[in-house]
Amino acid sequence: MKKLKLGILISGNGSNLQAIIDNIKANKLNAEIAIVISDNPDAYGLTRAKNANIKSIHINPGKYKTKLSDEAEQEYIKCLKNNKVDLICLAGFMRVLKTNLLNAFAGKIINIHPALLPSFPGLDAQKQAFDYGVQYTGCTVHFVDNKVDHGPIIKQAVVEVLQQDTYESLKEKILKQEHKIYSEAIQLIAENKIRINGRKTTII
Ligand code: GAR
Repeated sequence: MKKLKLGILISGNGSNLQAIIDNIKANKLNAEIAIVISDNPDAYGLTRAKNANIKSIHINPGKYKTKLSDEAEQEYIKCLKNNKVDLICLAGFMRVLKTNLLNAFAGKIINIHPALLPSFPGLDAQKQAFDYGVQYTGCTVHFVDNKVDHGPIIKQAVVEVLQQDTYESLKEKILKQEHKIYSEAIQLIAENKIRINGRKTTII
């Protein structure tokens, strides 16, 4: 079976990237990472990529804080196309994607979000859930569409919030599940097992 070529977009620590690297090495994931792109030159994820001999690059996002400038967006598209990426995985990439990038890779972009969508979209989802006082939260892998944290859901994992949990311990527990379900979702796509019907995905 042909390996799925991944383009992974990061902004920070890159622990989800690391989990993908480790799962590929452990033969749990029929994929290869063609390129890691960071909007932040100091992202530790760039070091993780280098340590694993994976091609990585910082592409300046331009003047905005929460999206790419038009010029930057073109650079991202060019880089992803040049590296013949089949699937873009947002792994802690803290910017909203705009139309040109979405259209260039329609149906081929996925994201991991640290809450059970549609609850707590947006920034600091773990904090939102913790402060709200929910007893269960978790994480979601979903296709990316033109609304924030909104596209069809591929996989979710539930995490129980215990009395003794702090925001930090909860975040840690959620992250552990993220590392598991992100690779599982990518593997389903690598095996061409996912069909999308409106908002719903089915596994064949
Ligand atoms: C993860 O918890 C991810 O779900 C979240 O950022 C963290 C990145 O961690 N993403 C978002 O909040 C996207 N809106 P990592 O850099 O260690 O993978």
